[in-house]
Amino acid sequence: MRVDVFTLVPHAFAWLTEQRPIAGILGTELELRLFNYRDTTPLRAGQVDDEPYGGGAGMVLRVDVVAAALDAVYAGSPPARVIALSPQGTPLTQSLVEDLAHEDELTFLSARFEGFDDRIVEHLATDAISIGPYVLSNGDLPAMVLLDAVARRLPGALAEGSGELESFSAELGGGLEYPHYTRPAEFRGWSVPDVLLSGDHAKIEAWRREHVR
Ligand SMILES: C[S@@+](CC[C@H](N)C(=O)[O-])C[C@H]1O[C@@H](n2cnc3c(N)ncnc32)[C@H](O)[C@@H]1O
Repeated sequence: MRVDVFTLVPHAFAWLTEQRPIAGILGTELELRLFNYRDTTPLRAGQVDDEPYGGGAGMVLRVDVVAAALDAVYAGSPPARVIALSPQGTPLTQSLVEDLAHEDELTFLSARFEGFDDRIVEHLATDAISIGPYVLSNGDLPAMVLLDAVARRLPGALAEGSGELESFSAELGGGLEYPHYTRPAEFRGWSVPDVLLSGDHAKIEAWRREHVR
């Protein structure tokens, strides 16, 4: 899969690309390209946003700036999914992540301050996605959240089988995963359930199924 992120702070993504699972699949299952709106803005002095029509606080990311950035990369043929990260978008769920993980190419658009000129969302993006009902300062963390969630569903990102039995997975009926424990078996009087120490795999499996939340 190729993921293109349009942002004002490409360097913010450095941390994410050094971490697993993304670090492990970069260059193989995942190609990540980072583009700065300022590099292709048609405006002077690297301007990318402007005051809102009708007045009010904050600056709005300009439609001509985003169009120029997309044209510079895709020459008029953008990918099938161009996703604007926006608190007003469709709420991100695991099933939406699974859907996006089947795409060959994804493009993420990040904004800041007051957000996008709405024509960007209406005409340049195909989707708008929100990572939750709260407002962050910019779309870079949401883009990273979406990138991480999608990347860990790509082949080779996780150890065999570890991505199937997870919270929200179809395997768990969309429920929350059963509890996990590790050593020590006893700590401050807090014990690990005996069944998990029994070595009886059938009983452990049954206990886990019962404890899906
Ligand atoms: C300060 S927010 C703009 C909020 C906007 N004025 C509103 O009230 O809906 C700036 C940018 O951060 C990103 N952003 C903030 N919260 C987000 C969320 N929950 N999900 C996705 N993107 C978000 C979006 O790119 C947004 O355009």
